[in-house]
Amino acid sequence: MALPVPATDQQKAEQPSIARVHDCWLEGSHHSDLDRQYADQIALCAPHVPYLVRESRQLLRRMVGFLVEQGVRQFLDLGTGIPTRGHVHEIAQELDPSCRVVYVDNDPRVAADGAKVVADNGGAAFVQADIRRPDEIFGAKESRELLDRSRPVAVLLVETLLFLRDEEDPAAVVKAYVDAVCPGSYVGIVHFSQNEELDQGLNLFSRMFGAPPIVTLRDRDVLVDFFAGLDLVEPGIVPVPLWRPEDEDPVLNPEAVQVHAGLGRKP
Ligand SMILES: C[S@@+](CC[C@H](N)C(=O)[O-])C[C@H]1O[C@@H](n2cnc3c(N)ncnc32)[C@H](O)[C@@H]1O
Repeated sequence: MALPVPATDQQKAEQPSIARVHDCWLEGSHHSDLDRQYADQIALCAPHVPYLVRESRQLLRRMVGFLVEQGVRQFLDLGTGIPTRGHVHEIAQELDPSCRVVYVDNDPRVAADGAKVVADNGGAAFVQADIRRPDEIFGAKESRELLDRSRPVAVLLVETLLFLRDEEDPAAVVKAYVDAVCPGSYVGIVHFSQNEELDQGLNLFSRMFGAPPIVTLRDRDVLVDFFAGLDLVEPGIVPVPLWRPEDEDPVLNPEAVQVHAGLGRKP
């Protein structure tokens, strides 16, 4: 029997990354052949996932646009992945160039790529950190320079909390950010929902390709707890195409889209 051997740095560098898999599905250019192969394997087992990711990106555009309309000019995007293909700074700064954005991701390769993407943007920066350590994130030089916490900040968690297990108390993680920002700030959450097709897809992936991405899918009812102490913005926590839709291509059966979104305002 072969004993497990620790991965070398080279092998680690070659592991696929879920952020770069997203980049494949969003038709970006920040991914390798290995990421593409992993993206194809996931899509083989759960063919609707790339569609869900694209719908989430549409939602991000609408949510950031809404926040700018409400007067928010500062964004903290947690678990951001690669900030391209219509990411927060692109949307917000197009509406108002004075908008400031701090991106956070704990994957060092994602952070290295992300930092390059925003290197020439005086209003955006990338911090490599774990979202479970809010003090570290707010204490980072980039956050201190770009975020004025006496003014409203929009904290975004777009498909990030699914990487925290229930034992890690994601509601408490969210609360730490709510406590750290001033009244009038917002928290936006997008989360893959518990559903049979995704569960089957993950099972099929483990039978065909080995360990699947480790995620915790959550029902809408669980997401309600993440907004404790916040006023939910209309229409509440809904499948992403139903969150303030605009004049986009209409989505068939929007209520069946298995990703929920909500936005809460700190009173
Ligand atoms: C699904 S991906 C990117 C989602 C991205 N927000 C979007 O809208 O496309 C989730 C990201 O969360 C990051 N992530 C997962 N757990 C994290 C943690 N504990 N702290 C910081 N980032 C984390 C991953 O590295 C990954 O880049």
